[in-house]
Amino acid sequence: MELTITQPDDWHLHLRDSDLLHAVAPHSASTFRRAIVMPNLKPPITTTAAAIAYRESILKALPSGSSFDPLMTLYLTDTTSPSEIKLARQSGVVYGVKLYPAGATTNSQDGVTDLFGKCLSVLEEMVRQNMPLLVHGEVTDPDVDIFDREKVFIETVLEPLIQQLPQLKIVMEHITTMDAVKFVESCKEGFVAATVTPQHLLLNRNSLFQGGLQPHNYCLPVLKREMHREAIVQAVTSGSKKFFLGTDSAPHERRRKESSNGCAGIYSSPIALSLYAKVFEEEGALDKLEAFTSFNGPDFYGVPRNSSKVTLKRDPWKVPELFSFSFGEIVPLFAGRTLQWQVVSD
Ligand code: NCD
Ligand code: ZN
Repeated sequence: MELTITQPDDWHLHLRDSDLLHAVAPHSASTFRRAIVMPNLKPPITTTAAAIAYRESILKALPSGSSFDPLMTLYLTDTTSPSEIKLARQSGVVYGVKLYPAGATTNSQDGVTDLFGKCLSVLEEMVRQNMPLLVHGEVTDPDVDIFDREKVFIETVLEPLIQQLPQLKIVMEHITTMDAVKFVESCKEGFVAATVTPQHLLLNRNSLFQGGLQPHNYCLPVLKREMHREAIVQAVTSGSKKFFLGTDSAPHERRRKESSNGCAGIYSSPIALSLYAKVFEEEGALDKLEAFTSFNGPDFYGVPRNSSKVTLKRDPWKVPELFSFSFGEIVPLFAGRTLQWQVVSD
């Protein structure tokens, strides 16, 4: 059985830099036509000039002839200025501004400490420039239980934010809870949407501990209870336009994941489309897959849908145990497991 769909885009991707960029960029480019590239490098991409330079280095890391188009983002800080947002819009290569609450995740130490106190004028300029705010939706208060951080963020940041700036376009990135599903469903279409990762559709928090600690299933926001996974699956397979593909593929070298202080981030780009197909097939909703992977994202961002196609074939294959590079190894999500769908052409 084959399934040909409009080529997908990845609306949430970490491409890293240097060796890691060269290692992973071809994987994304072999499936996806475009990707929203996250700015949490060291140092972070806080200016349009840095975003343009980063885009150039991504293009150089692509296989020759690749038509992969990196859509860049800026990393919001307490000191980002409204004029930087104007520059970002004028550049034609910046598609969003990423809010990392300071300390929420990998390389977020330069993130925002007080959104309403420090960033209001920037957010107002983003409304004027129709520039989406891409949100890592977790509070960082150490007194809030890690499994409740998304819910508390919705209540304390997102709900007040949409009250104050109802015209701001917001993408709640990598949603993990029933609360996030309900929040996004309650908002106005075209203004608030969400990306969904393969791991939050396929795994619950038991996967972190099954047969021993499983560092390669550790990402942020952390996996949640089964009822949350089920709510997210229902949301994406419902046909709603508010949910779209964002892998949050976030490679870390194996030795940095398998360590006493292991990094958060799951590497999924080479297998992501197979995994999304698995979810939709299991729900009997393969007819809704293409809208989720290839229509809802471009429609929200106001860019054309792709004209290129990809074909998925139902033909079992084994996910590699790891990818080896001169600098080290990367272990993918579902390493060594057999998947039914594989991408066969573009
Ligand atoms: C991401 C990373 O490694 O950059 N990690 C993750 O667990 N998702 C950062 C992020 O998106 O939170
Ligand atoms: Zn991410």
